[in-house]
This record gives sequence, structure tokens and C-alpha cells, in this order.
Amino acid sequence: MDTLQRRKRLVIGNWKMHGNQASNATLLEELRAGAASVGACDIAICAPFPYIGQASASLQGSGITWGAQDVSPHAQGAYTGEVSASMLADFACTWSLVGHSERRAMHGETDKLVADKAVAALSAGLTPVVCVGETQSEQESGHTSDVIARQLAPLIALGAQQVNRMVFAYEPVWAIGTGLSATPEQAQEVHAFVRKRLESIGASQVRILYGGSVKPDNAANLFAMPDIDGALVGGASLKAQDFLRIAAA
Ligand code: PGA
Repeated sequence: MDTLQRRKRLVIGNWKMHGNQASNATLLEELRAGAASVGACDIAICAPFPYIGQASASLQGSGITWGAQDVSPHAQGAYTGEVSASMLADFACTWSLVGHSERRAMHGETDKLVADKAVAALSAGLTPVVCVGETQSEQESGHTSDVIARQLAPLIALGAQQVNRMVFAYEPVWAIGTGLSATPEQAQEVHAFVRKRLESIGASQVRILYGGSVKPDNAANLFAMPDIDGALVGGASLKAQDFLRIAAA
């Protein structure tokens, strides 16, 4: 069977630090109303922590799942300001992003810490969405695959059983929020590289999303690539119509 048919498409909205109760209510209502028309694609949103309860209440039964943008590597304890995976599970989260480039860059998250967060998410029954990607200077100096391999290494070391339960997102840092998406061919090349690494340990069913300025008008060309299984969408996920159009692509 064609692998494209086996891996169901997944589109996740990353709201980042946007929204309030009133604007979320409108957005969630519009997503709920439009979800049914999108067809055979899994749709999810990752809200800021305080609004996860609101997302859960609003999206119940809609077919859209929800999650967080980060998770603590610790199970519980004296970790002021952190949120554990079991707390997210308590709000019926399906997902947690881990290792988003904004967290790697602004909060000093290391490859090892990202892997620890992925393990914490898995142990509470969540699916970690592990983000990897190179900066502009790393890309320009021809180091993309070295950087991705380094970021993947502590995850690969966990073995196929764990890795098969994760989702990966390739997000070139230079494409995030810049309007400068990778071309489908550029993204496919890196996705194929990631896929090969995952397959080398026998993790063959993992979904790999592309992120970085995904919009309704470039989504279909990205999704046409054999190793691109969906998208992690920032800016365009804040407008229900744009987000649903991306999912419909
Ligand atoms: P963007 O963000 O779609 O606004 O580029 C993507 C992301 O950071 O996940």
C-alpha cells in the first residue's frame, strides 16, 4: 500500500501567545462549525495554558483535538511555573508541542531537554509533537542536515517503540512568521532525511509535519510531497477560515 494512504494527514494550529477568552470563543466556535466540512484530516489546536480548559469545553465532540505548546519534563513537585503532562491529560489534551524553535532560542532548551519533555508527554498518554529545524545561518552554511541529525539524536536513542508514538514537525527557523515558506522541494528533502533517520530504528509510521509560513495558498503544494504529512500552523491558525482552508488542502 502507498505510504501516503497509510499516514492520515494532521494539521495543528499553534496559537502561540495570542488570544483572550472572548476572541478564543469566536475562533473555537468557527472551527467547530467548519470542522465537519474538512474531510479526512486530523485537526488540532495548541492553546496557551490558561485557555486549554476553554478549548476542551468548546471542542468536545467536534472532532477537533487540543493540546499545549510546551510541557514540563518533570512529573510533579517544586517546579514553580511549570505544567506537567498529567495536568494536560487531566484536561483531555491529545498533544503537546515540544522543542519549538522559539523555546529552544528564548528559553535555552537543549536537544536533551526536548527529548525529556517528549518522554514526559508520552508517559502521561499525550502525543508529543517534536519540533526540529535549522536557523537561517545554519541553512546558508549548508548545515541543515547536521543540525537536524543532532536535534533528532536523543530522540532516536529512545528507540522505535517510543518514537513511533510521536509526531515530528520540521520548522525551518527562517520560515517561521516570516512569510518565507520553504519550497515544497526544500521541505521534502529535509522530511525525507528525517524519515530515513526514523526508519533506521524501525519507526516507520511517524507523521512528519511541515511548519513555517503555511498559508491557504501554499498548503496544497506542500501536502503533495510524499513525506509531508500535514502542517504545524502559526499565524494562519488564528483565522478560522484560513486554518480550515489549510486543513481542507
Ligand atoms: P507560522 O508559525 O505559521 O506563523 O510561520 C509556525 C510555527 O511557529 O509553528
